[in-house]
Amino acid sequence: MRIGIIGAGAMARALGGGWAAAGHEIVVGARTSAAAAAEAIGHGARAVTVGEAARFGEATLLALPVSALDDVLREDPEIYSGRTLIDCTNAFTPDVGGFALSEPAVAERIAATAPGARVVKAFNLLAAEVWAGSDRVFEGRPLTVPVCGDDADAVATVAGLAEDLKLRPVHAGGLSRARYLEATSAFVVGLWFAGHDARAVFPPLEAAFAVEDE
Ligand SMILES: NC(=O)c1ccc[n+]([C@@H]2O[C@H](COP(=O)([O-])OP(=O)(O)OC[C@H]3O[C@@H](n4cnc5c(N)ncnc54)[C@H](OP(=O)(O)O)[C@@H]3O)[C@@H](O)[C@H]2O)c1
Repeated sequence: MRIGIIGAGAMARALGGGWAAAGHEIVVGARTSAAAAAEAIGHGARAVTVGEAARFGEATLLALPVSALDDVLREDPEIYSGRTLIDCTNAFTPDVGGFALSEPAVAERIAATAPGARVVKAFNLLAAEVWAGSDRVFEGRPLTVPVCGDDADAVATVAGLAEDLKLRPVHAGGLSRARYLEATSAFVVGLWFAGHDARAVFPPLEAAFAVEDE
């Protein structure tokens, strides 16, 4: 699949590197750092302009600071129409005890700014180092990626891209639920930064009185 990545930092390299290794055709667009990122991603990844990255693929990853989203999306919102637009961003701001969100629902704002884009939230919960790594099973549990989006085809595309990274995708609802992924990230990363094992907050499913996994 052709994937355009906007932003050329840690997330672009981690996700782009895995997708390139899985055989996808990757271009990276940023203001100054695209060439270095394309080289780091390898497997024929190319540096292009931000506009070219936006136009390139059937899927586009927004690997940008939240503060840059408006600049990038408002340049030509029509470009994204019909494309799968993957949002991995977090609107973190420092807060007592961890992080808060500088805005409550980034994925929904992206969808409002680029009408026609098939926005899917995914990959925002974990650090780039985890996505770039090879550990995919922890304590016998496959590393699972919640995916939120309204367009079934786009959700399936992103689920496939998660599988290409040897991850286990789960469709966790429509885009209106992406704000919970964003809040979860702020809360859990705050726990981790404070030195607590966030995983220990939750018992395994079989002890959670939840519906059994299928
Ligand atoms: N790093 C993580 O572990 C992690 C984990 C989960 C989610 N996230 C989220 O993922 C997003 C990206 O994080 P990151 O760590 O990859 O960021 P990063 O390493 O700081 O890289 C951000 C990239 O955005 C580009 N950029 C900034 N402003 C731009 C603009 N106006 N137009 C075009 N490109 C622009 C920068 O390149 P130029 O300066 O060359 O333009 C840079 O390559 C953030 O929203 C972050 O919260 C990060």
